[in-house]
Amino acid sequence: MSATKPGWVVAPWELRWSGLDVEALERTESAFALSNGHLGWRGSLEEGEPRGLPGTYLNGFYEEHSLPYAESGYGYPEAGQTVVNATDGKIIRLLVGDEPLDMRYGAAVHHERVLDFRSGTLSRNTEWVSPTGRRVRITTQRLVSFTQRAVAAIRYEVEPVDGELQVVLQSDLLANEPIESTSKDPRVAAALRAPLAADFAASEGYRAVLVHHTKRSGLRLAAAMDHELEATDGLHTEMHVEEDLARLTAAVDVPAGGRLRLTKYLAYGWSGQRSVPALRAQVDAALAGALQTGWDGLLAEQRAYLDDFWESADIEIDGDPELQQALRFALYHVLQAGSRGESRAIPAKGLTGPGYDGHAFWDTETFVLPVLSYTIPEAARDALRWRHSTLDKARERARVLGQRGAVFPWRSINGEECSAYWPAGTAAFHVAADIADATVRYLGATGDTDFDRNEGAELLIETARLWASLGHHDPHGGFRIDGVTGPDEYTAVVDNNVYTNLMAQRNLLQAAAACERLPEVAERLGVEEGEVAFWRNAARNMVVPYDDVLGVHPQSERFTEHTEWDFAATPPEGYPLLLNYPYFDLYRKQVIKQADLVLALHLRGDAFTEEQKARNFAYYEARTVRDSSLSACTQAVIAAEVGHLDLAYDYLAETALADFHDIHRNVRNGLHIASLAGSWIATIAGLGGMRDHDGVLTFAPRLPAALRSITFRMCYRETRFAVEVTQEQASYRLISGKPLHTAHHGEPIVVSPGEPVVRPLPPPPRHPAPQQPVGRAPQRRSRPPV
Ligand code: BGC
Repeated sequence: MSATKPGWVVAPWELRWSGLDVEALERTESAFALSNGHLGWRGSLEEGEPRGLPGTYLNGFYEEHSLPYAESGYGYPEAGQTVVNATDGKIIRLLVGDEPLDMRYGAAVHHERVLDFRSGTLSRNTEWVSPTGRRVRITTQRLVSFTQRAVAAIRYEVEPVDGELQVVLQSDLLANEPIESTSKDPRVAAALRAPLAADFAASEGYRAVLVHHTKRSGLRLAAAMDHELEATDGLHTEMHVEEDLARLTAAVDVPAGGRLRLTKYLAYGWSGQRSVPALRAQVDAALAGALQTGWDGLLAEQRAYLDDFWESADIEIDGDPELQQALRFALYHVLQAGSRGESRAIPAKGLTGPGYDGHAFWDTETFVLPVLSYTIPEAARDALRWRHSTLDKARERARVLGQRGAVFPWRSINGEECSAYWPAGTAAFHVAADIADATVRYLGATGDTDFDRNEGAELLIETARLWASLGHHDPHGGFRIDGVTGPDEYTAVVDNNVYTNLMAQRNLLQAAAACERLPEVAERLGVEEGEVAFWRNAARNMVVPYDDVLGVHPQSERFTEHTEWDFAATPPEGYPLLLNYPYFDLYRKQVIKQADLVLALHLRGDAFTEEQKARNFAYYEARTVRDSSLSACTQAVIAAEVGHLDLAYDYLAETALADFHDIHRNVRNGLHIASLAGSWIATIAGLGGMRDHDGVLTFAPRLPAALRSITFRMCYRETRFAVEVTQEQASYRLISGKPLHTAHHGEPIVVSPGEPVVRPLPPPPRHPAPQQPVGRAPQRRSRPPV
């Protein structure tokens, strides 16, 4: 074992784990996951064991199973979907002399793994002494290509340290790898035990292919591998293929100072429609492309892709090296989750683990797409195109529920509702407005008229239709939306949730504007004139409850009249509350899982006065427990806006470091991609004060005393620019593109090529420090100024 305690090492451009800790493998496998949004590999060790969860995930590749209901009800979804661990191509086993490399035995004299955010590779450096004293150095590097989306590759090198050694490598493609189920439902576990049925297996030279299909969902998958071997003379190789296994074995005597080098190229293809020959051809072609590019070429492409990404997305923080690392880690994983998802969803865990069954939620539109819209907008467009591609399913779901327009699923892989729990599932209708909001943001950030014409306007119109049919006018003319659940899942099936109503209001108005902008789309969708007038009227008369006595907005009607939760009597181990208290009790008390009204203060900040924001924030701070990872980032944003800069910094750090420190105790199942995206939101919308109401971009930056500066980069309508914020001033600089029209603390500015625009920072507003529930304050990150 290495001398120092194993753990993360702080470094600005990489994630480094030094030392061996078998117990920590599960969570480091999530953090070290590689993905391009299309295909994902968990960071398991090449030799396959020890391991946490090996995980190879293909976006949109899932198995179906029935959903469990104790009692049935009309409109309950019948089939669930769960992401499948696909054919594993990461495995390269090593025999040193006659002993298998297994880090649980012998001694790891040196062991280090590094995920490099600029090269896009995961490397490993291990010096291992076998139980009988044979010493080898193993160096590996792997990548999942950003530029060739079906391709991944591994370079594996082994060198004897003390003298000649016989070395045997076995490079596998393994289907139906036995894994422990993470599901508590035995039916789901059964569906996922050996989920792949073999269709075809073949090999030629160093190349092999396995084709399988899932038993119920009927999706077909081809996985192929090819190899390059570099060794001294005397190399012996064998290829073996059976239904669920293809294996290339290479044996050679490696002299002292020599090495065996294996480069493994992998390609994946999957489809609900393509035949075995078509998929086989597809992976053969992808492999041919990868081999033609070669290992060095793949590395070069990967670096160029990332150089371009960082030019428009990097955040530099001066004053907190750990946060610096965490922010780049977060951005890197958000990129990995969304970059090449293309016509498929961005799951809540990306492709880093099986958590949430691989489903996508509103997390994507509300937390991930703001980041992508301003850093790599094509990825935001593609995620919205996925939603658009599921419109027929959403229209059908609306029909089943007796509504008009589209009811998008609360959780899904293929667009069909998979939530078996109505109150925190379908009732969370706000997902429709979240999709509309992300559409408006993307259109504002890019001006993409093609997307607007082909997909955007339709998304706005079909979601507006839902609100028009879900809501109704009360006898006083107010437009109410009753019986829905807002973002806070500790308050369910309520009337007039402020967040939902305000987001629906924007949705209705934006749909009306889209019909004016694109009359041909409105005509194609059969929008009648009366319909648009109805939307405008509903938006104008939208009910937004207000508590005159307390001077705050109730999260939903009468919320502030509910009894309070007894926080003083809730022990630390009582959290998360949903696992320790009955829902009926959570539902009828003033206890909040995650930002809801506070999220409205952010996303519909244009609907509140400064005074209302400060008062509302203080009220909800005292009742929010953050049992969801989708809360701290929003609390950071509003804390910063109302002047609690140290608190904003604490929440920013909590968001950014949550997966490093595993604060939700479930990183083994995958990273929290939306929360990682939330650390960008907490920085840019929080400390940077960025807002984009109705597509207009503005800034109002301020720093907590502990930071010397932050510099962030963004892209807006093909203009790339950087904002540097210090304690005294903000400076706006163009990197490339046309002049940027924006605002600094309400003052319009134009940023042109050449000299940056520099403006002083006004002092923050002053309000009494808010209180959090007992024991639920964020960890203090803020330090007094030096
Ligand atoms: C949160 C939801 C979120 C889901 C997936 C839940 O715990 O309450 O808002 O969409 O996790 O991340």
